[in-house]
Amino acid sequence: MRALVVNCSPVSTGATAEICRVVSRELTSGFMVKSICIDAYVFGFCKGCRNCWETGECVQHDDVVEMVEEYDKADIIVTVSPSYWGDVPGQFKAFIDRCSPWCHTNGEHGGISSGKKGYAIALRSGTAMRECNRVMDTVEHFYEYLKIQPCGRLGLCNVEYKKDVALREGEITAFCQRIMDECDKEIQNITEWYDDQTPA
Ligand SMILES: Cc1cc2nc3c(=O)[nH]c(=O)nc-3n(C[C@H](O)[C@H](O)[C@H](O)COP(=O)(O)O)c2cc1C
Repeated sequence: MRALVVNCSPVSTGATAEICRVVSRELTSGFMVKSICIDAYVFGFCKGCRNCWETGECVQHDDVVEMVEEYDKADIIVTVSPSYWGDVPGQFKAFIDRCSPWCHTNGEHGGISSGKKGYAIALRSGTAMRECNRVMDTVEHFYEYLKIQPCGRLGLCNVEYKKDVALREGEITAFCQRIMDECDKEIQNITEWYDDQTPA
């Protein structure tokens, strides 16, 4: 099983990166983990031309395809996003807009391979969970339109810098354990289903 951990922050060494590091470390016992940062990919904004609605392809040729290939290869995706002005950072929103060729509303075109589970983690420096929920709503809306099943979320308030993450490791590791337990249960259910189909 493959896990993709996505840092949606343009900061590749900050609090979000630190959470990604902890998540990747924890998931390594159950998954082959790949961690990526939005900042490593260079791509333009969606131009709203709607060509992809006709052709299933974007008129721009840049790193978006490479990033979507990472999603395609994964069985589970863990998106880790800070709140910037109460939502995902602009870089990640720009990526979401550029995923229109793969959106399930895009007729017979589009789509990444099915059966994926998606998890969302949001962090913010402020105190109210409502804003973390807004960030995670954006992430889960994106998941749903790529037919990735939203399976769990974790909001972390009062996180500004990398050093603040150390105090929250317990919450993050418990969340990762839930992910691994859920996936174990699913594998067990599939195994039992196959056993039931096999003639005695
Ligand atoms: C441009 C910008 C906008 C931000 N907007 C908010 C905000 O609206 N609410 C909030 O609670 N924190 C806000 N923050 C704080 C970040 O959510 C917080 O510092 C987070 O830990 C940043 O992680 P990063 O350094 O990995 O990007 C903002 C930070 C930046 C840089």
